[in-house]
Amino acid sequence: MDGSAGLIGTDKSIGWRGLGLVSLLANLTAEGLSMSEPTFPLVLKGRSVIQIAVNHPFRIGILGSGQGSNFVAIADAVAAGNIPAQIAVVLSDVESAGILAHARARQLPAQFIPPGQFRTKLDEAAERAFVAALKAAQVDLVVLAGFMRVLKGDFLRAFEGRIVNIHPSLLPCFPGLQSWRQALDHGVKVAGCTVHFVDAGVDSGAIIGQTAVPVLDHDTAETLHQRIHAAEHELYPKCVAALARKEISVVGRRVIWK
Ligand code: GRF
Repeated sequence: MDGSAGLIGTDKSIGWRGLGLVSLLANLTAEGLSMSEPTFPLVLKGRSVIQIAVNHPFRIGILGSGQGSNFVAIADAVAAGNIPAQIAVVLSDVESAGILAHARARQLPAQFIPPGQFRTKLDEAAERAFVAALKAAQVDLVVLAGFMRVLKGDFLRAFEGRIVNIHPSLLPCFPGLQSWRQALDHGVKVAGCTVHFVDAGVDSGAIIGQTAVPVLDHDTAETLHQRIHAAEHELYPKCVAALARKEISVVGRRVIWK
């Protein structure tokens, strides 16, 4: 029992396969690409669409620094056929990270890339190495699953509109570190998690999906964190599946589900 209140913007009763809202973009044609080609309609700037040709199957690169429980949830969903995609590579800035061990146990390509001299971001050489590994793996989507470094300009430009993250709060509340503790200290009655596109800010990109989680009177930071974590394991695979199925478009800050 995780107490989650469902994916905002979807009808929980229609279930996994039926998820999604109406795409506004079905009839739009992007510059140089016809709609008959496989495309990835993600970023709308004003009213213009950037569409990116995608691989078949859709290829995902996953980055994490920690235990990798969200990676496991996504990998299980891929293995079960619930995400029509292939995990092309798993990368970490932490050599001993559980996410690498989980990936290797699943015979997926997994690589540690030293992050360089900074604590909260990648240095230039490391950034280049991460981008090169993701390009070599020909990824269509970069999935951050507990990656504890802020991504900067060159990385963002290399995968513009194609990087997503999961954050343990109902953004825009409580960006940054230990959001569940911030939520508890603030006294909110509803916490949760958010999957969002990554932009140059901190946890500030367009919101793809959210799950609300109640804050209970007897909650400690640990019990609330646990409940949010369980909700993440449901939400992230659903959002990645919708992206892989190209069921998501972005209009300004609004993410539209087909
Ligand atoms: C999750 O709580 C996620 O919201 C945050 O980092 C944590 C990663 O956990 N971005 P795990 O490594 O997937 O278990």
